[in-house]
Amino acid sequence: MGAWTLDDIPWQLFDATKLDPEIVRLVKAAALVEYNGAAYARHLCLVFADDGGVQDNARRWGEEEVQHGAALARWAALADPHFDFAAAFARFQDGYRIDFDADRSRRGSRAGEMLARCIVETGTSSYYTALREAATEPVLREICRRIAADELRHYRLFYKTMRACLAREQLGPWSRLRIALGRIAESEDDELAYAYYAANERDGAYDRRRYARAYARRAYALYQLHHVERVVAMILKAAGLTPNGWLGRIVASLSWRAMRWRVAQLTKSAA
Ligand SMILES: [Fe+2]
Ligand SMILES: [Fe+2]
Repeated sequence: MGAWTLDDIPWQLFDATKLDPEIVRLVKAAALVEYNGAAYARHLCLVFADDGGVQDNARRWGEEEVQHGAALARWAALADPHFDFAAAFARFQDGYRIDFDADRSRRGSRAGEMLARCIVETGTSSYYTALREAATEPVLREICRRIAADELRHYRLFYKTMRACLAREQLGPWSRLRIALGRIAESEDDELAYAYYAANERDGAYDRRRYARAYARRAYALYQLHHVERVVAMILKAAGLTPNGWLGRIVASLSWRAMRWRVAQLTKSAA
């Protein structure tokens, strides 16, 4: 169980006059991805089959991710009473499949797996921070505040576990950078695009390019420069590089420009 429960959310403060339909669509998609967290916790328990401590942490982590999904789903149902979370989640699980039952990490090592988890938690902590700052609906802002704090704690947990793994495994700086960049590139894979489709479309077939672009246009638009600077610092730290030096400043500046350019392109093509 995490540091909070759904009963801690001030649901009575929900204000339907402060809804942004684009943000509602993003929240529905996020609810599906978060609610799938238990499947990934199972995978981590298999990867760390002989380490009860990491398994306990992974199970707790999975429960917290599922709770994020439950909180976002409940908010989405307030925002759109026609939203059928159970049906959307079933659609998501049906169409988005990866091998959660494998006992080896796709990253090639336990340290690599923890590094990839650090990248994901970097993405989620910055995303919910950006979402909170963009939203005006008070209950959503409170949910995002709590989730962003959890995601930052998850990053620290996986970072600490990665450091412990690195004491036993060889994983040089180039391998770390390769894994980090590989996981960042995967953020444009099926998971988020399919979640966006399953949460928001009832008819029509899945078109990966179309829904990846639809999701990216709305999600990237939430980000401001300070979120990108934070993302870059956390990624560099996880990859074993200096987080706040000249490299960080250059990468953050280039990433920010690339992101704004992408949003402008996607908006122009009405993705
Ligand atoms: Fe989460
Ligand atoms: Fe998390």
